[in-house]
Amino acid sequence: MTQDIYLTGITTTGTPHIGNYVGAIRPCIEASKDKSKQNYYFLADFHALAKAEDPERIARSSLEISAAWLALGLDTDNAVFYRQSDIPEIPQLTWILTRMTAKGLMNRAHSYKAQVQANVEKYSQDPDKGINMALYSYPILMAADILMFKSTKVPVGRDQKQHVEMTRDIAQRFNHHYGDILVIPEAVIGDDTAVLAGLDGRKMSKSYDNTIPLFADEKQLRKLIMKIKTNSIEPGEPKDINDSTLYDIYKAFAQPDEVREIEKRYEDGIAWGEMKQVLFEYINEHIKPARAEYQRYIDDPAEVERVLVKGAEKAREVSVPYLDQIRHAVGIRKLG
Ligand code: TRP
Repeated sequence: MTQDIYLTGITTTGTPHIGNYVGAIRPCIEASKDKSKQNYYFLADFHALAKAEDPERIARSSLEISAAWLALGLDTDNAVFYRQSDIPEIPQLTWILTRMTAKGLMNRAHSYKAQVQANVEKYSQDPDKGINMALYSYPILMAADILMFKSTKVPVGRDQKQHVEMTRDIAQRFNHHYGDILVIPEAVIGDDTAVLAGLDGRKMSKSYDNTIPLFADEKQLRKLIMKIKTNSIEPGEPKDINDSTLYDIYKAFAQPDEVREIEKRYEDGIAWGEMKQVLFEYINEHIKPARAEYQRYIDDPAEVERVLVKGAEKAREVSVPYLDQIRHAVGIRKLG
């Protein structure tokens, strides 16, 4: 068996928050340093286009996500870090795969179905209201991302699992027609303990508007942490760690012995206000050095651009010859 190739994409529609950090950024950055692993990480800006209409937001998000990953120590010598839109082979492969995708398969995509369902509930005459073709065929673009680099493992959240299953379907159908050319990937689903709750206690997500931006400045960080929802248990009363967003966030950042210490303080009835202060100070200290680096990158977008261009060059060492092979297989060939 050849070595596993890990690949994952980040849609450029928002500002990185601490939920992204704990669930995806931190584990990916760790993995990027592992010389025994081959990793591809990319900004899925064509995917962002399917979801967002505001050009400034897509561009800004691309800068913020890149700056965050670089500031946190992504190893760009070992891992391949690039922007999807810098790889012209990806949209070409998307079209070739579109030919191999049953319309019925796309009809079954959860995200598409959820939108149709919402429309049926709101405007019964037009179930497809607001749904553009990019959103509808989003899973085919994602299949191209994955298959373009022969990846075997795709780390994603649970909500993306179906898309990886669809990628497998599409690739198998392609191989059945054209020979054994595409590599069949597998989803790697992060464990649920890595999912943080947000300010209101629901999953931290930009769609709920309940996030704590990873590089919020000190003042904003304090303000947001003070807003985290708690229950009405009084200071001095023992508190339950199993139902506490403050505890979960602390645990995601702190060392095991520090976590045990906090568990004791919960038993002893720490006041919520005090716990918020403890959490603020901890996260602030933890993030401070990277925050300065982040700001340096934000202020120097040309430097970020250079890193991305270099990443794309590395990525295209694979995608250019591989796409040639794929084009040849489907009959798109030079005539002489
Ligand atoms: N659709 C993914 C998300 O919204 C992002 C993504 C795009 C992706 N292409 C990918 C993830 C390829 C893994 C592999 O989170």
